[in-house]
Amino acid sequence: MENKPDTIGSDKDVSMSCPKVTMHQGGVALSRVVAGMWRMGDWSMSVNARVRLIEQCIEMGVTSFDHADIYGDSSVEALFGEALASSVTLKKQLQIITKCGIKLPTHTGGIRSLKHYNLSDQYIKKSVDNSLQKLGVEKIDLLLIHRPSPLMDFDEMAATFQDIRASGKVLHFGVSNFTQTQFAALNRRFPLSTNQVEFSPLNLNAMNDGLFESLQDLNIAPMIWSALGGGSIFSNHTAHIQRIHQAFTQAGLSMGLSPAGAVYAWIMRLPCKPVVLTGSGRIQAIAEAVTASNVQMDALQWFELLEIIRGHEVA
Ligand SMILES: NC(=O)c1ccc[n+]([C@@H]2O[C@H](COP(=O)([O-])OP(=O)(O)OC[C@H]3O[C@@H](n4cnc5c(N)ncnc54)[C@H](OP(=O)(O)O)[C@@H]3O)[C@@H](O)[C@H]2O)c1
Repeated sequence: MENKPDTIGSDKDVSMSCPKVTMHQGGVALSRVVAGMWRMGDWSMSVNARVRLIEQCIEMGVTSFDHADIYGDSSVEALFGEALASSVTLKKQLQIITKCGIKLPTHTGGIRSLKHYNLSDQYIKKSVDNSLQKLGVEKIDLLLIHRPSPLMDFDEMAATFQDIRASGKVLHFGVSNFTQTQFAALNRRFPLSTNQVEFSPLNLNAMNDGLFESLQDLNIAPMIWSALGGGSIFSNHTAHIQRIHQAFTQAGLSMGLSPAGAVYAWIMRLPCKPVVLTGSGRIQAIAEAVTASNVQMDALQWFELLEIIRGHEVA
């Protein structure tokens, strides 16, 4: 069977437009490529440049933007909100994803608090209010719990999600970096839209530990962070990573994709229909992911790349 992305709307026939994927039965529809905003604080962009970046993403069909309360030392949501505030139409055209649950250390009265996780009812609700205020929006499309905590109480979290959904402040809920067991436990109590996890040619864990298969079984698309290994596929010069870089460069050439595009195409070939996050502020880098989202990698080519990544053939 062909592994075509789930598409809705009229985007299908536009070759340079990003398809949409429905994250969960009746759930939030995101673009197959989501613009990750983690590094926005490093991009040193004026408000106008941030507006233009968001507009150009939307023009390509990349309508979903990934945040977290802590990105850029808790500055990124406000930078994005400042850009949204300067346009009346922008916020109606996009989906906001944000995360909460990691409490960064604070310094008050000479006392340094520990970095820790807080997934309590009170903390999650307060985080949602803070994110809405910083982003300057009335609702969050998808809220993710950033990291699992050994102290999390699944019943309490499900009740919290129910309350927040009833308030209209968040439409859909998911998690990030959860194991298969943690995901299943919370998903039994409250229907989750996604699990956002790390995956790349440099980190195959989610493919090897059953996580992807369990999500495919539930018809839930994972979201993929650091698809390019945080850039190390292209900047790390160890012999093995250079071989991987060369292999994706060659694969890209044969498919009309950039090396990064070939990595995205390799990831999006998986039948759990991963939604990939970009990490760059360069519109060209985001466009490379969009081009890849319209390409279906041949299975033999996929296995050739797997062999180079692993350094050995399949059993
Ligand atoms: N849930 C979580 O725990 C979690 C953790 C980390 C990240 N995330 C999310 O995932 C998003 C993506 O993660 P990431 O930033 O680590 O992604 P990534 O795409 O693996 O890495 C992005 C880095 O790669 C560099 N890069 C080098 N060559 C590139 C090329 N040809 N094309 C594109 N980028 C290239 C970029 O540099 P340039 O800027 O110069 O292009 C940028 O510094 C984040 O923005 C965030 O939204 C989530």
